[in-house]
Amino acid sequence: MLDRYSRLINYLRISVTDRCNLRCRYCMPEEGIRLLRHEDILTYDEIAGFTRVAVKSGITKVRITGGEPLVRKGIVTLTGMLAAIGGIHDLSMTTNGVLLDRFAGDLAKAGLQRVNVSLDTIDPEQYSFITRGGDLNDVLRGIEAAKKARLLPVKINCVIHESPDETNAIEVARYCRENDLEVRYIKEMDLEEGRFSVVMGGSGGNCAGCNRLRLTSNGKLKPCLFSGLGYDVRTLGYEEAIKQAVGHKPQRGRKNINDSFYNIGG
Ligand code: 5AD
Ligand code: SF4
Repeated sequence: MLDRYSRLINYLRISVTDRCNLRCRYCMPEEGIRLLRHEDILTYDEIAGFTRVAVKSGITKVRITGGEPLVRKGIVTLTGMLAAIGGIHDLSMTTNGVLLDRFAGDLAKAGLQRVNVSLDTIDPEQYSFITRGGDLNDVLRGIEAAKKARLLPVKINCVIHESPDETNAIEVARYCRENDLEVRYIKEMDLEEGRFSVVMGGSGGNCAGCNRLRLTSNGKLKPCLFSGLGYDVRTLGYEEAIKQAVGHKPQRGRKNINDSFYNIGG
């Protein structure tokens, strides 16, 4: 699909839940969030049905995100349902890695091709501080499990404040070099203030080359992370929602006061 600015839209990011087992300081408030109601969350049949239509419309690349996707029950089943849709050339997941040790093998068997794991520091105390209680060892075990399951390349998403020269960022880079991991630095963003920049080592944040649509866990199809626009796939129907989202995809992001990272998946 081409949008109004001749951008080729071929990448769909699917947020399968707004829940998470961590509370990263830049993402979620400590006390947690007002959770979506169960009946508002798309079922796996709806997600797969929508994705089938999206692939027919030209989507070739799909990423499963959250919240934390691995906390949604039956995530391996959904992964298999998506993998069974012919025409997806790149099927990946963004996860915080905490539960990856348990799931990596099954996800790979179900047809997941690769994972991105969020890791902002390799200092156990810093990790626990940033995530408000996470255990670094869980993630390191998860990353090893992903490599063993050949979910390659394993990419590491590292959120930085200002620069890749920060101590945490440098140490994550060294850990990645020593462990055959690709690091991508993401400068901390602010949806409300419209603060974002290009992902270093990745493709996000570049409006002119943006190829993405985002499906939230409650079924809003969003053409831009930094815009409040969203098209309800249940009420509009899958085809019409895709048509609207592509047709209204903004030339560039501004700000988004309607959403948060935990419902839109970054
Ligand atoms: N700025 C940048 N990245 C963020 N993420 C969550 N909140 C923010 C933010 N405010 C990232 C996480 C993870 C991905 C899902 O989104 O670090 O890698
Ligand atoms: Fe959870 Fe990811 Fe948000 Fe951290 S950044 S609280 S791991 S959804």
